[in-house]
Amino acid sequence: MKYRKNILKIAVDSPAAAGAGTLCKSISKHYNLLYLDTGKIYRMIAYLKISHRNKYNESFIKKEIRNLNLDKLKNKKLLTDEIGTEASLIAKNKNIRKLVHSFQLKCAYNPPKRFDGSCLDGRDITYKIIPDANFKFFITANIRTRALRRYNELKGLNKRINYKDVVKNIKKRDKSDYNRKISPLKKTKDSILINTSNLSKRACFLKIKKIIDRKTRN
Ligand code: C5P
Repeated sequence: MKYRKNILKIAVDSPAAAGAGTLCKSISKHYNLLYLDTGKIYRMIAYLKISHRNKYNESFIKKEIRNLNLDKLKNKKLLTDEIGTEASLIAKNKNIRKLVHSFQLKCAYNPPKRFDGSCLDGRDITYKIIPDANFKFFITANIRTRALRRYNELKGLNKRINYKDVVKNIKKRDKSDYNRKISPLKKTKDSILINTSNLSKRACFLKIKKIIDRKTRN
C-alpha cells in the first residue's frame, strides 16, 4: 500500500456517544482531512449479519469490505442501538478486525490527494491503526451526558426509544469495549484527554484546534 508523506494524521478513541464523531467532523472540515468513523464499518458488518443471515460468512464479509466505500457507511440504518450492540459483539472477532484493518490503513495513510490528511475515530485507532499519528485524543463524557446525546440522536431518527434503555445499552457496550481481549478501548499515555461533558460543540472544537495549531505552528 502507498503511504502519503507529510500528511496530517489525527487519531481519536472514545466510548460510545461521547461526541467524538461531531468533533472529528468539524476538525476534518477545518483542516481538510478525510474523516472515517471506523465504528460504522463494524456497524455495517452487523447490519449485513442481521439482514443477510443466510449469506453471512467470512468470504461474504471479505467481498463486502473489498467493495466498501465511504458512501455506503452513510446508510441511516446503521445508526440504531440494535446495530450498535451487534457491532460491539462482532468487533470482538479477530478475523473480522483483520479484514477491516487494511481499509482503515488506506484511509489513514493514503487518503485521496484532495485531502491534506486524515482523521479516524474508533476504539483502537491511537495504538493500533495510527500509532504514529501527529495528534491523539481520547474523547469522553459522563454517562448521563452520553446517554442524553444518544437518546436525542435516536429520537431525531424517529426511533421509538426510552432513555433507560439507552443508558443500559451504553453501559453494556462500555463493559464490552473496555474489557475485551482484542483491541480494547483504552486511553494511551500519549493521547490527550478531552472531557466533553460540560463543553458545547464549539468549545470542544476550539479546544482541539488550539492544541493542533500550537504544535503545527512551531
Ligand atoms: O463508534 P460506534 O459506537 O459506532 O461503534 C460501534 C461498535 O463498534 C463499538 O461499540 C465497538 O465495539 C466497535 N468498534 C471497535 N473498534 C473501532 C470502532 C468501533 O471495536 N475502531
